[in-house]
Amino acid sequence: MKEIKKIACIGAGYVGGPTMSVIAQKNPGIQVTVVDLNQQRIDAWNDEDLSQLPIYEPGLDGVVGEARGRNLFFSTDVETAIDEADMIFISVNTPTKTYGKGKGQAADLKYIELCARQIARVAQGDKIIVEKSTLPVRTAAALKSILDDTGNGVNFAILSNPEFLAEGTAVADLHHPDRVLIGGEDEEAIQALVQIYAAWVPHERILTTNLWSSELSKLVANAFLAQRVSSINAISELCEVTGANVDEVSRAIGHDSRIGPKFLKASVGFGGSCFQKDILNLVYIARSYNLTAVADYWEQVIILNDHQKSRFAERIIQTMYNTVNGKKIVFLGWAFKKDTNDTRESAAIYVADHLLDEEAHLVVYDPKVSADQIYKDLDYLKTRSAEENRRLVTVVNDPYEALQEAHAATILTEWDEFKGYDWALIKKQMKKPSFVFDGRKLLDSASLRKLGFDYYAIGE
Ligand code: UDX
Ligand code: ADP
Repeated sequence: MKEIKKIACIGAGYVGGPTMSVIAQKNPGIQVTVVDLNQQRIDAWNDEDLSQLPIYEPGLDGVVGEARGRNLFFSTDVETAIDEADMIFISVNTPTKTYGKGKGQAADLKYIELCARQIARVAQGDKIIVEKSTLPVRTAAALKSILDDTGNGVNFAILSNPEFLAEGTAVADLHHPDRVLIGGEDEEAIQALVQIYAAWVPHERILTTNLWSSELSKLVANAFLAQRVSSINAISELCEVTGANVDEVSRAIGHDSRIGPKFLKASVGFGGSCFQKDILNLVYIARSYNLTAVADYWEQVIILNDHQKSRFAERIIQTMYNTVNGKKIVFLGWAFKKDTNDTRESAAIYVADHLLDEEAHLVVYDPKVSADQIYKDLDYLKTRSAEENRRLVTVVNDPYEALQEAHAATILTEWDEFKGYDWALIKKQMKKPSFVFDGRKLLDSASLRKLGFDYYAIGE
């Protein structure tokens, strides 16, 4: 079997960074080099101060601290890393297309294609190429054709190895995966990758399939998870008008072992880089095969999610006497979930946009997201000018300062620290009536109401 001595990973983002750090940690005999075009990102990965890593993940500093400089390296020298590696992971971003055919739905594969062309140009020996980014099915075929047609006559074996880690728990998910999935045709290449994971993952959890099944499974896994969230969110609206409590419903149905308790937490809407993108991809693929019923079925998961975000904003406006104009509304949380600084597709962005249309004055506090990122997210929507966004939105580092004289507090991310705040003190400092809109059902409703808050939560 082919022995892997050197690995390169193209893309030092949320997927490539943590995954390669753990692979290096668990395989001290393999040299792992993570490369990226973004110098600033690479500098941050190399920062002496491990609290400055470019992405925040609990436990990641320890893993990087253990392996970096030993057999884990971060660099912008993409070509040398490609040239030296026996195995190359592609972990570049595949955002939804913002132009042309498939705009707003299909995945933009230009970064993948650039990688493939670069690998083809540089590689002088046989390589195993591993797709790590989320890709629409049959991308491996495109990869293979570019590599074979433009390469230097060397052999490329292509594997699909989708990532199932969730942000905020990336290190734990990598250390104890439910399964590792490897798709491919070349048995020797598959076994080479199996060996790398077998350094810490039990063999029965390493599943091998054909390429297409592996690629499709990634989209389907995310679609099923997102579908559960949209399903319970649909029920949350029903609960609000009928007097049932959505947490109680979740608990009741989750005890059915066929349903199970996970991913049944009603929320202001799912976000993150994967769910929406992967479902849109699935929908796009189904439509391209004229499978209209299939496409419509999955699209509804997104439609419901959009509805949930705007419904939350509408509820705030209606409850506050149908106007939020000039009112100080505090956003607690901006990240798409707790324990990450990632804001991609975060519900907070869309709720903010809705309230800003109504000329609310927003004050945002998130323990891990920078002001710079928050303004970037709003500017990206192009709903209003950058100046307007800075005039209407203030970002602060102190939640108590944020809540002084506020008309309303809204919970957009389920950060644990929000539960520990001195809500009695906050009540004294907010305007009366003091509204709390809990988009995560995070706070204890009974004690907040006892303190005199007008408390509203999703699904209750
Ligand atoms: C997801 C998949 O879980 C992971 O396997 C895949 O590799 C990448 O996509 P991630 O997006 O990081 O991971 O986070 P996840 O925990 O799945 O949450 C996604 C969104 O759904 C978040 O906005 C979260 O707040 C929301 N969510 C999740 C709910 O609203 N309710 C739930 O019960 C669970
Ligand atoms: P993900 O969540 O999929 O990891 P990110 O956007 O966090 O996505 O990371 C992807 C990284 O890939 C970015 O840091 C980007 O600079 C990098 N990247 C994209 N294309 C290339 C390329 N051709 N060569 C090197 N790095 C690339």
